[in-house]
Amino acid sequence: MADLSCEFLGIKSPNPFWLASAPPTDKEYNVVRAFEAGWGGVVWKTLGEGDPVVNVNGPRYSALLSNDRKVIGFNNIELISDRPLATNLAEIRRVKRAWPDRALVVSLMVPCNEESWKRILTMVEDTGCDGVELNFGCPHGMSERGMGAAVGQVPEYIEMVTRWCKQHTRLPVIVKLTPNITDVRFPARAARSGGADAVSLINTINSIMGVNLETMVMHPSIGDQGSHGGYCGEAVKPIALNMVAEIARDPATAGLPISGIGGITTWRDAAEFIALGASNVQVCTAAMVYGFKIVANLNSGLANFLDAHGYKSVAELVGRAVPSVSDWRNLNLNHIGKAVIDQSTCIQCGRCHVVCEDTSHQAISSAKNGRRHFEILEEHCVGCNLCVSICPVPECITMRTLKPGEKDLRTGAVVSAEYANWTTHPNNPMRQIAEQAAAEEQ
Ligand SMILES: Cc1cc2nc3c(=O)[nH]c(=O)nc-3n(C[C@H](O)[C@H](O)[C@H](O)COP(=O)(O)O)c2cc1C
Ligand code: SF4
Ligand code: SF4
Repeated sequence: MADLSCEFLGIKSPNPFWLASAPPTDKEYNVVRAFEAGWGGVVWKTLGEGDPVVNVNGPRYSALLSNDRKVIGFNNIELISDRPLATNLAEIRRVKRAWPDRALVVSLMVPCNEESWKRILTMVEDTGCDGVELNFGCPHGMSERGMGAAVGQVPEYIEMVTRWCKQHTRLPVIVKLTPNITDVRFPARAARSGGADAVSLINTINSIMGVNLETMVMHPSIGDQGSHGGYCGEAVKPIALNMVAEIARDPATAGLPISGIGGITTWRDAAEFIALGASNVQVCTAAMVYGFKIVANLNSGLANFLDAHGYKSVAELVGRAVPSVSDWRNLNLNHIGKAVIDQSTCIQCGRCHVVCEDTSHQAISSAKNGRRHFEILEEHCVGCNLCVSICPVPECITMRTLKPGEKDLRTGAVVSAEYANWTTHPNNPMRQIAEQAAAEEQ
């Protein structure tokens, strides 16, 4: 049986599944129940300084539902912990003593001055917790007060605050990044420059869930006004995966430990984050939607996967897929794929024909001998994958890679075994300019 135990910045946990800083980790009662259910660790709901913050007394959460009412996206305008700091600190101390084998990291957010950070770090370190996570990601409310994403959107601030924290605590420092930026590599590099031991990402994405067209009020709202919230849940996973991979493959942050967050709902999601460079993962929405017991499936699913593929530990999986992530210009333009329909499973719904006919390359026929029949016309197919993506029957349409030497019926060209990307392609104007310049020099 594969070993699920993990060590992240020296912090041990029996499995890589931590609950992210959010309502599931808001208090002792929740965290104890989470540990009883089997979670490997938690990042305690973000603590601030001074008087507890005040949340709105109306809808602070809202969901994007699929037609069968599955939660695919989740939005919140909740602030950081609205419980007294002393209460939180006392509970953190008790929980850590009672559960020494679980990871207990504390999320923090205080005003952007060194004294405030120093003060809270001293108090938090005294609880015996395992580490701190700097919340530079909260996109609403706290960011209007100069904290959270207001810091996370300015690499210089990230570096400065991280440096203060490294100076004023012996605990490992994780910097939690906001996705509400243009290029996540810059904040990650700033965190590393400031001395961060790790980064975690993503926090939530600026979002409005909708508009009530009868009242012309955005949704969710407090009375007749709303404000953007933070989006999370399954819908954000692709965005988070890309950001994790960008940091993992950036030479400037190579080797910086990553805690992956964003839409993780199944063991498979977690394995994908780990394969793209995360050393552990954090979960929020899935626990809020399905409850703490999902961790049993996360653990057993990941262990089975590791066993089936001969990985002895989670650490062996970390970053395995990172080398597969590249820039578009490096993709092999001699790779030719064509769609194939498995007639034995096709239910003849016709959706593939409609989408290819209307929006792609008119490469799927709809009739044969006067009867409904759907077949790929290879002479038109560009292998775009649209039909594969919309077919309601799993594996009914697949992509076949043409072998070198085969003829591409669309172009009439014989498929080359050579790897040739945009940088070497004759149509690349930059290549032509470079070649022209080289010729002129001679
Ligand atoms: C209701 C709610 C409250 C949250 N509060 C915090 C918080 O206090 N501190 C923090 O760093 N992140 C907070 N988050 C963000 C989560 O920790 C996490 O980064 C985000 O939800 C993405 O993960 P998920 O898709 O698994 O939910 C909150 C998220 C939700 C849904
Ligand atoms: S979408 Fe799939 S099931 Fe429907 S006709 Fe096309 S191949 Fe058949
Ligand atoms: S892969 Fe694209 S072009 Fe080819 S049949 Fe499917 S939708 Fe049409």
